[in-house]
Amino acid sequence: MAEDTIPTYELNDGNTLPAVGFGTYPLAGDEGVDAITNALEVGYRLLDTAVNYGNENEVGEALRRSGLPRDEVQVTSKLPGRHHAYDEAVASVHASLGRLGLEYLDLHLIHWPNPSVDKYVEAWQALVDLQKEGLIRSIGVSNFTEAHLTRIIDASGVTPAVNQVELHPRFPQEEMRRVHDRLGIRTEAWSPMGKRRAPLEEAAVTGAAERLGVTTGQVILRWHVQIGSLPIPKSSNPERQRHNLDIFGFELTDDEVDAISALGEADGRLFGGDPDTHEEM
Ligand SMILES: NC(=O)c1ccc[n+]([C@@H]2O[C@H](COP(=O)([O-])OP(=O)(O)OC[C@H]3O[C@@H](n4cnc5c(N)ncnc54)[C@H](OP(=O)(O)O)[C@@H]3O)[C@@H](O)[C@H]2O)c1
Repeated sequence: MAEDTIPTYELNDGNTLPAVGFGTYPLAGDEGVDAITNALEVGYRLLDTAVNYGNENEVGEALRRSGLPRDEVQVTSKLPGRHHAYDEAVASVHASLGRLGLEYLDLHLIHWPNPSVDKYVEAWQALVDLQKEGLIRSIGVSNFTEAHLTRIIDASGVTPAVNQVELHPRFPQEEMRRVHDRLGIRTEAWSPMGKRRAPLEEAAVTGAAERLGVTTGQVILRWHVQIGSLPIPKSSNPERQRHNLDIFGFELTDDEVDAISALGEADGRLFGGDPDTHEEM
């Protein structure tokens, strides 16, 4: 699929993001570079990495190997919990840029709020200042609740462009999506398939896949697009990489979207990833 057929979203800072990206965890080493380079070759233009994935070197290497101009690919990385203090956050971003071999990041996120440490407001102020310096084009957060969002917005006057949250059919996050819409924040979805809980065999998904002549994975990713969520699927398989990008030439009915959303469960989270208690150091 040609990259010019991927729609884009405009963010609240005027920058844009492609409507689907490529998750890079846990791709690492030579195999990781190969998988990420292949993702760029098949047309992904948004890569998602993090300090804690230990693969920023590989992402930078894949970008160079692809031969694509820097401004045609968007790179997201994330600030780990142990770097939330202001000076450490600044140093951390410089270190990420060094590992990636880049002069700027397209998007940098606070990986988790780590409320028990209670330094995410400082971390946010560092990202606000680094954006002003031009080292990061767009700034955002990940795994923030409404209370965490409100606190950093009140403290800085700057609304994150993106909140990257766990979101898949078992955990559709209706309430957070409403919060994001109200605040003008783009919802990005991690574990968009639902990993080991991916509902690839559920009738709501297989029925739509049969009707449309697409794969069950494509149906799940198309559901994200139609609910306004930006998915970042990871795949090390070249065929699934291509399919996961090819989700803009067909449409689910409203009933199909609702049936997939109805797969949501109260305890639908994949692991103990509750933003109020999870500590990502
Ligand atoms: N912000 C955060 O806290 C956070 C947390 C977790 C993840 N993330 C980010 O989100 C990205 C994606 O999340 P994830 O890797 O946890 O979950 P995911 O993308 O939902 O699922 C990945 C798994 O699904 C398989 N898969 C991919 N496409 C498929 C398809 N079309 N049909 C069937 N199976 C398919 C992959 O296997 P194959 O590789 O064999 O295809 C892999 O095992 C990560 O890579 C990372 O960048 C962020």
